[in-house]
Amino acid sequence: MTTFLAPRDIARIVAAHGLPVVLNRLAAAIETDFRRWPEFDKVPRVAAHSREGVIELMPVADRTHYSFKYVNGHPGNGAHGLPTVMAFGVLADVATGAPLLLSELTLTTALRTAATSLMAARVLARPVTQGQTRTMALIGNGAQAEFQALAFHHGLGVRELRLFDVDPAATAKLVRNLRAVPGLALTVCASTAEAVRGAHIVTTITADKRNAVIIEPGMLEPGMHLNAVGGDCPGKTELHPGVLEAASVFVEYEPQTRIEGDLQQMPADFAVTELWRVLTGQASGRQRADEITVFDSVGFALEDFSALRLVQQLAAELGLGAPLELIPALADPKDLFSQLQLREQPERLVLQAA
Ligand SMILES: NC(=O)c1ccc[n+]([C@@H]2O[C@H](COP(=O)([O-])OP(=O)(O)OC[C@H]3O[C@@H](n4cnc5c(N)ncnc54)[C@H](O)[C@@H]3O)[C@@H](O)[C@H]2O)c1
Repeated sequence: MTTFLAPRDIARIVAAHGLPVVLNRLAAAIETDFRRWPEFDKVPRVAAHSREGVIELMPVADRTHYSFKYVNGHPGNGAHGLPTVMAFGVLADVATGAPLLLSELTLTTALRTAATSLMAARVLARPVTQGQTRTMALIGNGAQAEFQALAFHHGLGVRELRLFDVDPAATAKLVRNLRAVPGLALTVCASTAEAVRGAHIVTTITADKRNAVIIEPGMLEPGMHLNAVGGDCPGKTELHPGVLEAASVFVEYEPQTRIEGDLQQMPADFAVTELWRVLTGQASGRQRADEITVFDSVGFALEDFSALRLVQQLAAELGLGAPLELIPALADPKDLFSQLQLREQPERLVLQAA
């Protein structure tokens, strides 16, 4: 039997452990898998583009497990009462091909994206000196934003968030959701430029199907780390090319980021570093306090693989998940025909007269 995990199961996992613990365990699981990068079969995700958005399939496998995620990106979905990003995915056994888990991945994508951003910032953001308050500008205050905010608060000690969204209702929603978090100050700003000024870390997580310029070179300050999450599709970017030119740029999987990331604006030989090489000590992360670093995040299948395996484990520990009869249960694996239960109804096997 395949196990099915619904959004309420993920919510129960988070309620049982607390969000900081789940984010931290996800970041650790993703880092463990990134450290064994060469063991995975990897391919850039397969995208079907339309005027309104994109639908993508994201497969990856190692010797024991295969996973894929179905995910969309439709920035205008609010008008239909739907989220911009919706997802589900499957974890399967490589030895038999049997699907082990079918899980919601909408909530889980928000969790794993925040955990991946945290993992990257831990090796790329500059350390703060004692007594300094670590601040982060958060541009785009939609569905993903609280997850990013809490990952950076708990995982990296961000104490002040400087918020901006072109939709003030989105920012008001974020403030409502996070105002009770102790030790986290929320400052609502009137523009991106105001939010970014003086910030140690800048997270851009906007949704707009165009080459937007959220961050311009004039907004950069020495030592800034940019966690650029919203530019993740051809023709959908957030950073001015001059920002990338001024920075050391880090990516998940280079062949995919060249197509989808802010990197799509740069020449094919523009130098980037894959994160797994930093995590395994084969390449340097941040080298100087005044260096500007960019994590050009697009979301890679391996993050969902790690997340699926972790939620499978956490759900099993808590007795969560429903059995799902996705594949026929056969007494004789060669007798698929018996599933139709037509042996006793031979009249159903012949063409009926009209
Ligand atoms: N890299 C990844 O792994 C990853 C994972 C999930 C989502 N994403 C991307 O992150 C983005 C945000 O996703 P979401 O689910 O929060 O979407 P959302 O639609 O819920 O929120 C996006 C917010 O961006 C705001 N926005 C749009 N243009 C802006 C601008 N110029 N300045 C400031 N704010 C602006 C919108 O008003 C909205 O509130 C999407 O583009 C999505 O594709 C990336």
